[in-house]
Amino acid sequence: MIAHAEMPELEQIKNRNLTVLKLEQRPDFVETQHVKKIAERAVSYLKVGYPVHFSGPSGTGKTTFAMHVAQSLGRPVMLLHGDDEYGSSDLVGADYGYRKSKVIDNYISSVMKTEENMMSQWVDNRLTTACKYGFTLVYDEFTRSRPEANNILLTILEEKLLEMPKARGEEPYIQVHPGFRAIFTSNPEEYAGVHKSQDALMDRMVSIKMGHLDRDTEISITEAKSGISRKDAEVIVNIVRDFRQLGVDNHRPTIRACIMIGKVTAYRKACIRPDDPVFREICVDILNTDTIKIMKGGKALANEQVYSVIEKHCRNGKKTTLLFGASV
Ligand SMILES: Nc1ncnc2c1ncn2[C@@H]1O[C@H](COP(=O)(O)OP(=O)(O)OP(=O)(O)O)[C@@H](O)[C@H]1O
Ligand SMILES: [Mg+2]
Repeated sequence: MIAHAEMPELEQIKNRNLTVLKLEQRPDFVETQHVKKIAERAVSYLKVGYPVHFSGPSGTGKTTFAMHVAQSLGRPVMLLHGDDEYGSSDLVGADYGYRKSKVIDNYISSVMKTEENMMSQWVDNRLTTACKYGFTLVYDEFTRSRPEANNILLTILEEKLLEMPKARGEEPYIQVHPGFRAIFTSNPEEYAGVHKSQDALMDRMVSIKMGHLDRDTEISITEAKSGISRKDAEVIVNIVRDFRQLGVDNHRPTIRACIMIGKVTAYRKACIRPDDPVFREICVDILNTDTIKIMKGGKALANEQVYSVIEKHCRNGKKTTLLFGASV
C-alpha cells in the first residue's frame, strides 16, 4: 500500500491539466446569521472527519455553500461536476496515451542503431489527486453521475482507502491523506438527469437539507449581487417570495429571479412601480409565468397574478439607483 504523498507544488498538478483551486472569500458573499449557522454546522462535521452533503432544490445556495465551506477549510480545492457519462476512470485516472523513449546509438560512426520503447502512461484524475495530497473535494451535483461511477467513494469515505485499477500496475490501494475532506451537493431525485444514489454512500455522509434562504438573506444577496438599494431589493424579494407561494411548484422562482430582476431593472433604469410598463415586463419575463399554473376559462392567469403582486408590494415606488458595479 502506498502511503499518502507530500503535498506537491500546485504548478505540478496544473501541468497535468487538473485545475486546483485556491479559494478566497468572494467579496459579494453574503453572511447573515442564517448563512453563518448552516456554514458552522457543515464545518463542524467536516472537521470531525465526516463528508457533508448539501441537498435540495435548485437555487437554494448549495454550490455557493459548498465553495464557501471548502474555502474556510483553507486547503486547496478540487472541483468535480457530476456527469452521466463518467466512469470510475474519469474520477480516479487511466492510461492516457503513451510515453515514447528513443535511444540512438551512433558509437561507431558507420553504424546507426535506434531503439524505441512505448510505455502506457498512467495519469491520476481529480479524485485520486485530492485523496493523495489531502485536498478538499467539492463534488457538485454528484448524483448526475451514475451510481456505479461513484462506488469508488465507498471505501474512500469509510476505510480511507482508494482502490486503484489493476491496469495501473502498482499497489492496488492508496491510503487517503488525513487532510482529505469531501463536500457534495445534489438536487432532488425527481429532477431530470439525476440518479438515485446508493444508500451505502448516503449513509457515509451528513446531509444538510437546504430550503429557500430566509427573507433577510435573500434581500442581502439581491442587494449585493445586483447593485440596487436595500429598499428596492426588499420590494423585489417580497414580490418573488409571494409569487413562489402561488404556484403548484413552491421552489420557483428562486433567489436567481430576485437577482435578475434587480440587475435588469437597474440596467433599464426602470421604476419599481406598478405603473411602470418596463418593470412589469421584466417581472413577467423573469417570473417565468409557466411556473404557476392557475387557469381561468382555459387561459393562464399568470400575468394578472404578477401585476397584482407588484401592486401589493410597491406602493411607494421610485427609480432604482445603481449603487455600485453589479456582479455576476
Ligand atoms: N450566501 C450567498 N451570498 C451571495 N450569493 C449567494 C449566496 N447564496 C446563494 N447565492 C446566490 O444565489 C444563486 C443560487 O445559488 P447556488 O447556485 O449556490 O444554488 P444551488 O442550490 O447550487 O442551485 P442549483 O441546484 O441550480 O445548482 C447564485 O446566484 C448564488 O451566487
Ligand atoms: Mg449548484
